[in-house]
Amino acid sequence: MSKIHIVSNRLPLSIQQEENSFSLAPSVGGLATGMRSIYKEYGGKWIGWPGLAKDDLTEDEILEIDDKLVDEDCLAVHLSKEEINLYYEGFSNNVIWPLFHYFAQFIDYNHDYWEAYKKVNHKFAQKVLEVVDDGDIVWIHDYQLLLVPELIKSVKPNVTIGFFLHIPFPSFEVFRILPWRNELIKGMLGADLIGFHTYDYERHFFSSVRRLLGYEISFNEIHLEDRIILADAFPMGIDYDKFENMAKEIAHKPLSERSDLHRELEKYFLVSPDRKLILSIDRLDYTKGIPNRLHAFEKFLIKYPEFRNKVSLIMLVVPSRDEVEQYKLLKSEVDELVGRINGQYGGVNYTPVWYFYRSLPFENLIELYSTSDVALITPVRDGMNLVAKEYIASRINQSGVLIISEMAGAVKEMGEAIIINPNNEAEIADSIHQALTMSMEEQKRRMRYLQDRIRRYDVFKWSREFIKGMKKVEKLQHNLLAKRITPTVSRELVEHFSKAKKRAIFLDYDGTLVDFKNDPQAASPDAELHKLITALEKNEKNTVTIISGRDRETLERWLGDHKVNLIVEHGVWLKKIGEDWQMLHNISSSWKPTIRPILESFVDRTPGTFIEEKNYSLVWHYRNSEPEQGELRANELKDELREMTANHNLEIMEGNKVIEVKAGGINKGVAAMRFLSDTQYDSIIALGDDWTDEYMFRELPKSAYTIKVGMKKTEAAYKVESVKSVRNLLKELGKN
Ligand code: UDP
Ligand code: G6P
Repeated sequence: MSKIHIVSNRLPLSIQQEENSFSLAPSVGGLATGMRSIYKEYGGKWIGWPGLAKDDLTEDEILEIDDKLVDEDCLAVHLSKEEINLYYEGFSNNVIWPLFHYFAQFIDYNHDYWEAYKKVNHKFAQKVLEVVDDGDIVWIHDYQLLLVPELIKSVKPNVTIGFFLHIPFPSFEVFRILPWRNELIKGMLGADLIGFHTYDYERHFFSSVRRLLGYEISFNEIHLEDRIILADAFPMGIDYDKFENMAKEIAHKPLSERSDLHRELEKYFLVSPDRKLILSIDRLDYTKGIPNRLHAFEKFLIKYPEFRNKVSLIMLVVPSRDEVEQYKLLKSEVDELVGRINGQYGGVNYTPVWYFYRSLPFENLIELYSTSDVALITPVRDGMNLVAKEYIASRINQSGVLIISEMAGAVKEMGEAIIINPNNEAEIADSIHQALTMSMEEQKRRMRYLQDRIRRYDVFKWSREFIKGMKKVEKLQHNLLAKRITPTVSRELVEHFSKAKKRAIFLDYDGTLVDFKNDPQAASPDAELHKLITALEKNEKNTVTIISGRDRETLERWLGDHKVNLIVEHGVWLKKIGEDWQMLHNISSSWKPTIRPILESFVDRTPGTFIEEKNYSLVWHYRNSEPEQGELRANELKDELREMTANHNLEIMEGNKVIEVKAGGINKGVAAMRFLSDTQYDSIIALGDDWTDEYMFRELPKSAYTIKVGMKKTEAAYKVESVKSVRNLLKELGKN
């Protein structure tokens, strides 16, 4: 049976060095805590770094650690101090982390970091390749391993690869800052399914893929030359029952059996019945908005002095990445702020901010969640924020208010929370007041909605959906590749062709014989193409016809010296070898003055676009526009043209980055059939890449070899990947 392997920088368990031995402790952070509950179901391995530098370990100790991890279905990737410094603290946390969280000013553009990142990504990929079999699934996680999908796919194309990004994907304007942006995107595109927490991150990613690599994207499919990739939003959930059950268990424990922390909390409330607690939990990270929160809490104490001595903020801050400069600076800032606020507003019986700088065991976390009246989550940027969801799940009597930043991914599922802008301290102060004075009825009403939603889309559902997505893309790719010309089909085709005495070969031009160029006039035939056509035309058994949307002048100029027939403007004109142009249809162009101003208004409003005028059609080209704007305008234009075209018996043709308006009833299918009606052929081959060629594929007899260029949906019988593959095929045909 196929297995699912998980790959992430940090394993769900970290090795802790004790005096003479090692123990395993749960790792902190959303990725580890979320995935921990599910990975054992998959029958594969979790591959990652166990959290210690290998230079500090002897060979025997490394073996001991490996053994301990194997019992937990984990495989260790050991990193040296230098690798930790350059790859983990360096590229991952001093380049990608700040960039993806919109802290570009913190980036250290160090080339050694990039070199180490590549090297360590190879190391992870290598470890995966040691255990993965064809047909398995590999699920790679997060920003530390962006290159791993491609590194695995290039060696094992038959392994399905999922990639999930646990942090935001930034807007293109920010992502483009990075010198290594193309390499990172290409690395991610090795995956078959790419997941994000929210649709916003997904669309930012699409935008970068379009602009940097020019791939076509339709809905949530990215069309590469030989593959289709899906990207989608999967908001990560939590193990809801685990939190709810622990909260229930704690609630039922007599006070004497509760933890010291819990007893301390209870004592605090005993002093006065109207005391309240506000909770925040996060890693010490500049993305979490900890100073903003403290400033806002101070503002609250100033604006609402009646709450002094009654309301405290418990801040559990978990140490994180403390070797990285920005994290050290933040630590001093937070220490100082807490000290100042407590000094200014505290008293003998009152501490405004209870500050814990450590991590706490699971049970203690639930005690904090269940005793706090308000959770105050204020990140300035956060991929998801699981703490918010954990607070919701732990509120077993439905009391409690969540205040959450609009910059956290989780906010998309938290419509009933109080939503704040983390940079608006006055707003946060007022929200704290609103939360503390909210009626119990209102609290419960909101909490029920939140709980229903978070319970339904828990971490199990999240992972099931993601795995379903990987299977879906596997099937999609299978269907799309089903028509691909395999070596066997190719042999059959060449054999059929070589036996035939009279062969008709229809060749579309742009996207079939030559690749697209930004300037359509720059796509003239190169020496290799001339040679291929010459080889075909020399054999008198062959009748070669170039069938294109181009105008007469251009194609005649480019290919007029060849012994080929030309069908142009999608079938309006035919020029047989040695003869003059003849019109296949009698059509008028009296409609042009009505349609041209519409196209012109689109050119004016869409930089990079232009109009091409052919004898019987008008074409709006948008290949050089901003990709998203181009698509948007193309849809708008089609809409606007629809009514006009119906009245004038015109047709709108959607080609590759072009919208063409032309007289109705003319297309490549009709033209090809007209051409064939004169002579009997015992072999017909037709190649084309876009929508306009589909007419030809549809009309030609079933016995024809119709071949689509590109892995898209088609009525053709077969597909090839690219112009290069077309040329290889023509080369073979030219020999027969
Ligand atoms: N957490 C933990 N121990 C602690 C404090 C927090 O394991 O002492 C967990 C917390 O329960 C949550 C995770 O760390 O699951 C933090 O995830 P979140 O998505 O909120 O932020 P991240 O750290 O991933 O940025
Ligand atoms: C975030 C990241 C995780 C990371 C975690 C803890 O949740 O998305 O990939 O593991 O923070 O950070 P650390 O650097 O300690 O692994």
